[in-house]
Amino acid sequence: MRKQIISLLLSFAAVAPAFPQGGYEPSPEIIEARQEFQDNKFGIFIHWGIYSLLGDGEWVMNNKNINYKEYAKLADAFYPHAFDAAEWVSAIKGSGARYLCFTSRHHDGFSMFDSQYSDFTITRATPFKRDVIKELTDECHRQGLNVHFYYSLLDWTRPDYTPLGNTGRGTGRDSTGVWADYYAFMNNQLHELLTKYGEVNAIWFDGKWDQNNNPDFDWGFPEMYRRIHETQPGCLIGNNHHEAIIPGEDIQIFERDLPGQNKAGYSEGQEVSQHLPLETCETMNGMWGYRITDLNYKTDKELIHLLVRAAGMDANLLLNIGPQPDGRLPETSLERLKAIGAWMDRYGETIYGTRGGLVEPRDWGVTTQKGNRLFVHILNLQDRGLFLPLDGKRVKQAITFADGKKVRFERQDGGILLLLDEVPTAIDHVVELQLR
Ligand code: GLC
Repeated sequence: MRKQIISLLLSFAAVAPAFPQGGYEPSPEIIEARQEFQDNKFGIFIHWGIYSLLGDGEWVMNNKNINYKEYAKLADAFYPHAFDAAEWVSAIKGSGARYLCFTSRHHDGFSMFDSQYSDFTITRATPFKRDVIKELTDECHRQGLNVHFYYSLLDWTRPDYTPLGNTGRGTGRDSTGVWADYYAFMNNQLHELLTKYGEVNAIWFDGKWDQNNNPDFDWGFPEMYRRIHETQPGCLIGNNHHEAIIPGEDIQIFERDLPGQNKAGYSEGQEVSQHLPLETCETMNGMWGYRITDLNYKTDKELIHLLVRAAGMDANLLLNIGPQPDGRLPETSLERLKAIGAWMDRYGETIYGTRGGLVEPRDWGVTTQKGNRLFVHILNLQDRGLFLPLDGKRVKQAITFADGKKVRFERQDGGILLLLDEVPTAIDHVVELQLR
């Protein structure tokens, strides 16, 4: 017996390095896609659905215990006459974002695309009848923006999403259906999303936590993930389950917190992956879906800091907008996109294609790095001197990124002391170090 265990351990040890992710070996396409994803650094999230009509966020059906038959009537009033995919995509591109993650189907179960597996869709149940996902993805491909699809695992409407989870218990749906039907339905819809809309760069799952009180619940992820990778070999998989990575996933997602933090309370104990790309999603105001009373937008500075801090932690930022029921992006969100875009025009080089830099994130800011170029992003410093621990690395020269002017510095034990002419006041004062 003992011998068997030892030989089992040995054979596992021999296999482990080749399959660091529990038996999932990413294809060359996936490895390339992961790199591209990391290089892209910044994406825009869109939460849009029939819930937008109620102006109270995407959880309104659950929060107000709206009966699913009553809720379904919203579809008949959904006519976003001002929707213009080209306008959305160019506004998003203008922010410097490199990808768009769109809610194809949220927890309410409504599909924002033309699906033959449901009648509860934008094309069948609304007078609008247009497949907004088709319009958006075509436009993204035209304008060169990568396409990611959010897809909800849970459903507050269908009887075959069973057993009942933690949420959506007051929607009056019965749960007499069979899970296998729901599982087939999801796989069929994912197949549609991956075969009807050209290249899809990622599927972004959400809602696993709904079954956290049913410990034996099996979501069937390995098979679902395998099919996605089989259908589009370069399509990344992420799952907002607030946990450590599950084999088959390609990116790790953090909700409303940077990796390793837990201010919002979703990431308790969430182990940060050491080898997968990371992404933090966050709202521009306080809600994902359109909320008519929420004008509490983060400032330009706060949003840029979020993006820079994410980059310094080697993570992407996925920044959300909740479009209006008329099909327009809220005015303030358009202003924020423009401001971030203006900043990215000047400083994008210190963000895109970089990785978290040599100097660990600090209260004063972060560093990003591309080869021997170390970008010191000073976000919050009330001083003219800044010590940078450089792990024995020598500095050839230091310049202010914005104007190329030399910055004085002194060698000190373990690093250098930057000697700035003034206490920095810019949103992000970037000093570029040339390392030897
Ligand atoms: C949460 C919410 C959901 C939202 C998501 C975005 O999981 O349930 O409404 O889509 O966060 O990160």
